Amino acid sequence: MTVLEVKNLTHTYSGNTPFINDAVSRVSFSAEKGEIIGIIGHTGSGKSTLVQHLNGLLKPTEGEVFVDGENIWDNPKEIRKIRSKVGLVFQYPEYQLFEETVYADIAFGPKNMGLAGDELKKRVLDTCRLIGVKDEYLEKSPFDLSGGEKRRVAIAGVMAMKPEVIVFDEPTAGLDPAGRESVMKIIHDYRQAVGATVIIISHSMEDMALLADKLLVMNKGSLEMFDTVENVFLNGDRLREIGLNVPIVTRVFYELKAAGIPVPDNVFTVSRAVEVLKGIKAGERGA
Ligand SMILES: Nc1ncnc2c1ncn2[C@@H]1O[C@H](COP(=O)(O)OP(=O)(O)O)[C@@H](O)[C@H]1O
Ligand SMILES: [Mg+2]
Repeated sequence: MTVLEVKNLTHTYSGNTPFINDAVSRVSFSAEKGEIIGIIGHTGSGKSTLVQHLNGLLKPTEGEVFVDGENIWDNPKEIRKIRSKVGLVFQYPEYQLFEETVYADIAFGPKNMGLAGDELKKRVLDTCRLIGVKDEYLEKSPFDLSGGEKRRVAIAGVMAMKPEVIVFDEPTAGLDPAGRESVMKIIHDYRQAVGATVIIISHSMEDMALLADKLLVMNKGSLEMFDTVENVFLNGDRLREIGLNVPIVTRVFYELKAAGIPVPDNVFTVSRAVEVLKGIKAGERGA
């Protein structure tokens, strides 16, 4: 079932001169229920501009965005309602925490949706449990938490609205490896629990290989590829031309293949690499 559809979306920032490309130019794609779509592209390629259209934060200069089959701008007065259906986690979302307690920050979104009383409390607590915000944090000030914990609380605030589509703009940027892993796990767990569609911008090809079903590749405001992770990563030459790359482990396997070792091209994760190498070793023993 198609949950989200973007048709021919163009965005021109006011002040763009004819000499500057549109920030986003004629992009079309759609997302199915439960799908994880990764968005990759060089800095300035239009990724953030594109995703800010998905919940009506930006209005297309041309083109349309459909959520559950409805054009989100058909009724501009209702545009805020779309924000609970499509949740957007900004880059460095921890800078947008502002309430006195962690509880109040996470409750802010669902409260705006009209939840109150026990229902609101249950929603906040369920979200915290799902993504591992400990009860003892709830009465603390968000400003007393570590960077990684603040990020988790900011993400919880969007997840507490239980959006059917959740969009992350570089959710692991600036975190240490443990922080990155925990944010990746939260995203994975939310998808499993809610069956939501996930759209995630990242510069980490490793994270994309582990998490995404499909990749949308942006280049200078245009959509360059929209395909399975496998088909996109098999196009390493083109990715390099536009300032991107394949996962490091994939590069290792290219080199092995070039050196005459019979390995496949489609190795994108460490666990798959280990499987393949074990298979080769077993084959040698058998020979
Ligand atoms: N608020 C803005 N006003 C004018 N130009 C902008 C604004 N935000 C981004 N841009 C420009 O739009 C283009 C795309 O930017 P952006 O969507 O932030 O790309 P990305 O997220 O891929 O780095 C860039 O050329 C950028 O300079
Ligand atoms: Mg960006």
